[in-house]
Amino acid sequence: MFLWGTATAAYQIEGAAGEDGRGPSVWDVFAHEPGRVRDGHTGDVACDHYHRWPEDVALMSGLGVNAYRFSISWPRVLPSGAGEVNAKGLDFYERLVDALLEHGIQPVPTLFHWDLPQALEERGGWLSRDTAARFADYAAVVAGRLADRVPLWITLNEPFVHMAYGYAMGVHAPGRALLNEALPAAHHQLLGHGLAVRALRAAGAREVAITNNCTPVRPASREEPDLRAAEAYDILHNRLFLDPVLLGAYPDLSAYPPGMDGVRDGDLEVIATPIDALGVNYYNPTRIAAPEAGAGLPFADAGLPGHPTTAFGWPIVPDGLRELLTGLKARYGAALPPIHVTENGCSQEDVPAEDGTVEDEGRIAFLRDHIAAMRRAMAEGVDVRGYFVWSLLDNFEWAEGYHQRFGLVHVDYATLRRTPKASYRWYAEFVRSQNTDT
Ligand code: NOJ
Repeated sequence: MFLWGTATAAYQIEGAAGEDGRGPSVWDVFAHEPGRVRDGHTGDVACDHYHRWPEDVALMSGLGVNAYRFSISWPRVLPSGAGEVNAKGLDFYERLVDALLEHGIQPVPTLFHWDLPQALEERGGWLSRDTAARFADYAAVVAGRLADRVPLWITLNEPFVHMAYGYAMGVHAPGRALLNEALPAAHHQLLGHGLAVRALRAAGAREVAITNNCTPVRPASREEPDLRAAEAYDILHNRLFLDPVLLGAYPDLSAYPPGMDGVRDGDLEVIATPIDALGVNYYNPTRIAAPEAGAGLPFADAGLPGHPTTAFGWPIVPDGLRELLTGLKARYGAALPPIHVTENGCSQEDVPAEDGTVEDEGRIAFLRDHIAAMRRAMAEGVDVRGYFVWSLLDNFEWAEGYHQRFGLVHVDYATLRRTPKASYRWYAEFVRSQNTDT
């Protein structure tokens, strides 16, 4: 059965940051630091999904989706990151999973969507090897409760973004600006992924995947310096997170001195523990040029002019999804597991009309065109098993706070009222028109 779903993440929707024994995460701390998030927004309340989840499950049921990708908040389950389990945290996710199943919606939980328990950050966060082992322990705790009901698990969400934004540039939590010295945060996330795959399987998990945000990289020209820069970017963004998982080896990181540190014998075997599916988040291609002389990085983002853009300013290039999927197949061949497009969507201004309705025609066109591109890749032989719209609801968009709206459902943050947009009605009709295997 092809999965047609929607996606969210814990810190972006749950709120209830201090309730029922949840511990603080790096995002609670970061968002409360002045100047970190636009207009000082935080996820303290977010969409209040922690209290309003029955309404949100009903919205999904109305949509007719057969899958829902959400994330589990590590500090809700283990307030200090390790040790004592918070029963109320686990109970919350169990209720959610059971309600989804009752509505015929397959739960697809992600174990880490960037909200590391602050207690672990204070012990080095993902720069510390120990965090990988703690992640596997946490995976075992959650799977111990839910493995019998969850068909597909996702270990990490976008480890590239977490490393680059959180540890290299400091624009996301935990706000560290270490540039190339951030690379161990990639290795330890990947090690945590491999250990978690093993822990999940030991607890009886059925299928396990990892989600990367992949981008097709286009060189700005066919000149050698641009080609070299594009390759360096592809290595950092895509291959650093795919090669070790699928091929058991890191790509050449010599463009990022001092390169990867902290890899021990046996780590790559753990990281390459077989997985059942690959999650791919797609937003746009990236065009790369050679850097200015003396720049710190071996590439420069050349932008992608000539395309319409989302409210975020991201270029809208539906065929980039086909290019990405067929490119993954060409690169990894038989080593590529079946793919789920675990996120795809766009932010728009989405101002409600006087009667409260939101006519987001642009989002409808975006989704329709991307689904068509995905299908072209499938016709070219790529094995895609699912597609999840980012997002079910407007929510906390990280450093942008509540300014970027990605939802099929509009959220009025003053009242927390949910209003389905035109795209919700379109997706509902679309999903209903599909027979069970695409
Ligand atoms: C990817 C991230 O996983 C998600 O949290 C974010 O909101 C979307 N991209 C949009 O930026």
